[in-house]
Amino acid sequence: MLDDRHIARAATLLKEGRLVAFPTETVYGLGANALDNHAVAEIFAAKGRPKFNPLIVHLPDAEAAKHYVQWNEQAEQLTKTLWPGPLTLVLKRQGNCRISLLASAGLDTLAVRVPAHPLAHALLAQAAVPVAAPSANRSGRVSPTLAAHVQEELGGSIAMILDGGPCEVGLESTVIDLSGATPLILRPGAVTREQIAGVLRRDVGLAMQTAGPLHSPGMMESHYAPTLPLRLNALRPEAGEALLAFGLHVPAGAKHTMNLSERGDLKEAAAHLFAYLRVLDAPGYSAIAVMPIPGEGLGEAINDRLKRAAKR
Ligand code: TXA
Ligand code: MG
Repeated sequence: MLDDRHIARAATLLKEGRLVAFPTETVYGLGANALDNHAVAEIFAAKGRPKFNPLIVHLPDAEAAKHYVQWNEQAEQLTKTLWPGPLTLVLKRQGNCRISLLASAGLDTLAVRVPAHPLAHALLAQAAVPVAAPSANRSGRVSPTLAAHVQEELGGSIAMILDGGPCEVGLESTVIDLSGATPLILRPGAVTREQIAGVLRRDVGLAMQTAGPLHSPGMMESHYAPTLPLRLNALRPEAGEALLAFGLHVPAGAKHTMNLSERGDLKEAAAHLFAYLRVLDAPGYSAIAVMPIPGEGLGEAINDRLKRAAKR
């Protein structure tokens, strides 16, 4: 069992510039001291991630975030109700921001988030340094929701994995850009657009739907990629296919079926999504057929991830 000594050890390793994987309520993160350029570079090396993809910096509370980014009224409103939690804010870096520019991939903005997971919070509080952490998977693979996933892909290249069991939400945080004149969702995620619109009392756009340059490199279409092809909105499996099902009425005939949520619950489906994709992404199947998933609420983020996973 995990105890305080593990957390203390992990905090020390982070301060020493080593990589530590830790659970958050969304997915496991691959953490490094965000003040230490070399440590941040280790993240990119371990993940095999293109250097231009900026990282989220994790902090124990909003007060800590204000040291590094230019706070504003919308940030105040959103974080009052939704932090700690699965919401990431992109804000302008403070003039004297000491966080590695590599974590911002050279941009003048920084993504900050205060996770709700008690282990993550304990670790961040003890480490007492801001922690840059992308999802703890190899670049282009789906995000890990179990310590075993992290061990499988990165076990050899990191100092420690804090095992907090399965991640409750299972889907990454929502990334919202508050650095410009109007708020813009860069990545749909665990906090829904409706929730954000409710707090800000205004409509909020999704970056993909607006024209213009790529806002968030994480929006690259092939970001979440299993090895097998995905066939979306499948009503029944074809010969040789594995089936990612949703709901009570599941067609027969798949070589292997995993049901995201028998009762058709989008929250449950989100929690299972990446883990089940991993199970079905195995040799011996021709493709993964995915049943239609409703687009409202958390369904927006689930369908976004599935569309990316299907692009090749
Ligand atoms: O739930 C999560 O957010 C997890 C856990 C570990 O916190 N982290 C995560 O990190 O998913 P990552 O690196 O896999 O995704 C970060 C997303 C990417 O889409 C990235 O492009 C975007 O945030 N991002 C980070 N900094 C940004 C910035 N300054 N401007 C625009 N987008 C940024
Ligand atoms: Mg990721």
